[in-house]
Amino acid sequence: MRKKIIAGNWKMNVLPSETAELVKEVAAATKDFANVEVVCCTPAIDIPAAVAAACGTHVGIGAENAHWEAKGAFTGEISCPMLVDAGVKYVIIGHSERRQYFGETDETVNKRTRAVIAAGMTAIVCVGETLEEREAGKLVEVIERQMTTGLKDVTAADCAKLVIAYEPVWAIGTGKTATPDQAQEVHALIRSILARLVGEETAQTVRIQYGGSMKPANAAELLAKPDIDGGLIGGAALKAGDFAGIVAAGN
Ligand code: PGA
Repeated sequence: MRKKIIAGNWKMNVLPSETAELVKEVAAATKDFANVEVVCCTPAIDIPAAVAAACGTHVGIGAENAHWEAKGAFTGEISCPMLVDAGVKYVIIGHSERRQYFGETDETVNKRTRAVIAAGMTAIVCVGETLEEREAGKLVEVIERQMTTGLKDVTAADCAKLVIAYEPVWAIGTGKTATPDQAQEVHALIRSILARLVGEETAQTVRIQYGGSMKPANAAELLAKPDIDGGLIGGAALKAGDFAGIVAAGN
């Protein structure tokens, strides 16, 4: 059985001074849902406050990106050892906003993913097609490329520290959610690609989150699908009540 994992992706939205309160609210609002792994991924500058506020609770703290080198002349970047030292347990890699605005490629996704896993953190690797790609019939091709290049040299043993997030780009922040059947179809495809890459048995253990306008009102039917093992939540993660509603749906 795969334990459901619901992770908030705060993006660039919460001030350091607001962080402790939101993490504490999330911890309090989700404390009764022990069947779900609860994560808040925060801006780098919020991490110390988030880790301190989550201490002694069930909430894990994640980062929104990480560089693949351990140290060196990379002005403005943050390394995996730095994140580990700060108490971070999860890192989102290859979010579509990073691909779209910051030049992230499947190759850099691969380097970051391997560095995160090697550092002992869990990589939440995002894949997903744009509307244009979907309408051009390229869905399978895009997911196939993102998975095979993004996960190159990721081993079956590494998969204990791997979560995949399927986020159709057209559903992120738009209010348009993939239907549960549309999402399930791609989740099953992702699991079949994983099976080819790391073996069927391991593929069955990897959690695949759905992301894109997930909210309390649509979470239950998405999370009821056999290959949907959680959610990566943007907008609805900024209100503890909404976030907890999604966690409750996954419990
Ligand atoms: P959304 O964002 O829930 O606001 O659509 C999801 C994400 O980008 O991870």
